[in-house]
Amino acid sequence: MSSFRALMVHRGEDKSISHEMTDLRHDDLPADGDVLVAIKYSTVNYKDGLCLSGKGGLVRNYPHVPGIDFAGEVVSSTDKRYKAGDLVVLTGWRVGEVWWGGYAQFAKVRADWLVPLADGLDCQQAMAIGTAGVTAMLSVLALEDAGITPDRGPVLVTGAAGGVGSLATALLAARGYNVTAVTGRPETADYLRGLGASDILPRAEMLDGGGRPLESESWAGCVDSVGSAILARALAQMQYGGAVATVGLAGGADLPTTVIPFIIRGVSLLGIDSAMAAYDRRVAAWQRLASDLPTAQIAATMSVIGLGEVPAAGADILAGKVKGRLVVDVNA
Ligand SMILES: NC(=O)c1ccc[n+]([C@@H]2O[C@H](COP(=O)([O-])OP(=O)(O)OC[C@H]3O[C@@H](n4cnc5c(N)ncnc54)[C@H](OP(=O)(O)O)[C@@H]3O)[C@@H](O)[C@H]2O)c1
Repeated sequence: MSSFRALMVHRGEDKSISHEMTDLRHDDLPADGDVLVAIKYSTVNYKDGLCLSGKGGLVRNYPHVPGIDFAGEVVSSTDKRYKAGDLVVLTGWRVGEVWWGGYAQFAKVRADWLVPLADGLDCQQAMAIGTAGVTAMLSVLALEDAGITPDRGPVLVTGAAGGVGSLATALLAARGYNVTAVTGRPETADYLRGLGASDILPRAEMLDGGGRPLESESWAGCVDSVGSAILARALAQMQYGGAVATVGLAGGADLPTTVIPFIIRGVSLLGIDSAMAAYDRRVAAWQRLASDLPTAQIAATMSVIGLGEVPAAGADILAGKVKGRLVVDVNA
């Protein structure tokens, strides 16, 4: 194929952002990658919403091909770890931000950033999981490392109807945890129960009446993709020795809390980063995702869109309107 389709983001001199479906040649791809991948699917994450809209200062150079995740087939490789025909997955490593990413039919990337597609998953399922699922899995692994087991008590998932939240809910429930899902969208209650949530906690209730450094000990663990007042409230409600995996900032980057939950209840705040996670940790996370996540739950979280629908989806995810995971068929 001499040319291929890509979604490019342009920034004008007045800093206005525009999107264009364009044809690229293979020569246009960055020369410093060592694996050429024919992309099958990409995704839309919150960070993609930022890159698509020029927000957050993530994209350094324009025109730019966003897309922080992709799954596809190796076409050629100068790195001996990969050969033509291998199925591979990329999440993170600032691909789609600093480097051209997955909203194209081809990408050229460094072998270090790839992992082999885990046995038991196809490329579409891998992208239904994507960065959101890897992050959810890394959060569950971190809670387990901190000694949080299902018998310790209920766990909380915030931003539950979003990408990370949906997959954290499904993973924790599949592992036998009793999951309470915090959502600002009551209409997602059936969806969240379908993923395995035992209880739904409206976001407004979680925000109402907070401010005390310690409250009743309600949760053994928490996966928080929201930050700010919700995270502060969760910390105040943790059981003695509980642990919170802090993943995101959909509700704000601040953390209006005190040291009291940490020094009186021995609560742990576990920082989760998926973008630069070490190769072995990423492979371990994908293996657990392949074994733990029921196929039906992967399908339940997923909606498939075409490349042309991505700009609108990026705006929707920033507005908190996306339920579950958006998978992008780059060849549709
Ligand atoms: N650390 C990492 O490696 C990593 C990886 C992936 C993502 N992240 C971060 O994690 C967060 C979630 O990412 P995502 O891809 O899952 O995004 P997403 O699909 O948009 O989910 C975010 C969810 O947060 C809730 N939310 C949105 N705005 C809110 C507000 N103002 N106050 C309270 N809750 C709000 C919504 O859940 P409800 O509708 O259920 O209320 C929304 O669905 C983002 O901040 C992202 O940057 C971090």
